[in-house]
Amino acid sequence: MDIERCLVEKRSCKSYLDKSVPIELIGEMLKAGTYAPSAGNLQNWQFIVVRDQEKRFAIAAACHKQDWMRGAPVHIIVCNDIKKVTDMFSRKGKMYATQACAIAGQNIMLKATDVGLYTCWVGSFDEYTVAKILKLPDNILPEMIITVGYSDQIEQGMDRVPVERVVFFDEYGKNVVEKSFFPLSKYGDNVARVLERATSGSSSSQRQESATGQGKPLSRFKQWFKK
Ligand SMILES: Cc1cc2nc3c(=O)[nH]c(=O)nc-3n(C[C@H](O)[C@H](O)[C@H](O)COP(=O)(O)O)c2cc1C
Repeated sequence: MDIERCLVEKRSCKSYLDKSVPIELIGEMLKAGTYAPSAGNLQNWQFIVVRDQEKRFAIAAACHKQDWMRGAPVHIIVCNDIKKVTDMFSRKGKMYATQACAIAGQNIMLKATDVGLYTCWVGSFDEYTVAKILKLPDNILPEMIITVGYSDQIEQGMDRVPVERVVFFDEYGKNVVEKSFFPLSKYGDNVARVLERATSGSSSSQRQESATGQGKPLSRFKQWFKK
């Protein structure tokens, strides 16, 4: 699947069909997980695939009673072999270990979308209870749970802060409009809204510039669009 389509279609799913997931597809997803980068290439992830109904129900309960999870035929628990990272990177090891597991989790979910499956990342759970259900050794932490299954969910719209609001150039707060940065073609005729969004988040000094007529990001942007 095209990466952009995959990113857009990968919406969190909390309603699953009563249909089992072929183990080969789970294998493909987990292999994608192992392609994640990791600090020192330590690959501190481990995955537990739970299909057993009793265990899944117990896990859902341990996730502060997120009962919708019971409907997912597979739970994947991404575990963090944290010690091997903290042994090598003492100060930042904990963070590196979590980050690597998070990337593995995202890879797993993207691959799931690619093969027609639906997922949801679950981070809200009682670690002690989940560790007990899965019989985890002391040095292995449950990092996140990914529910997996088929669904007839129609993708929801992307509820995202526009990218231009969260990007700065060269230093924090500097969000000078760059012509090539905004995917204008996608907005069709709705240029006014794009312009409004692109310029309304400007820093105060830029707003002043704009008010005094210097810089004029709005008119510059309009000019570009005309070209
Ligand atoms: C770190 C993290 C923890 C999350 N924990 C939960 C959770 O416990 N329960 C849940 O239903 N969704 C959870 N989510 C899913 C988010 O609610 C969801 O990604 C967000 O609302 C955006 O929706 P989307 O994934 O459909 O774009 C979590 C996501 C992340 C990244």
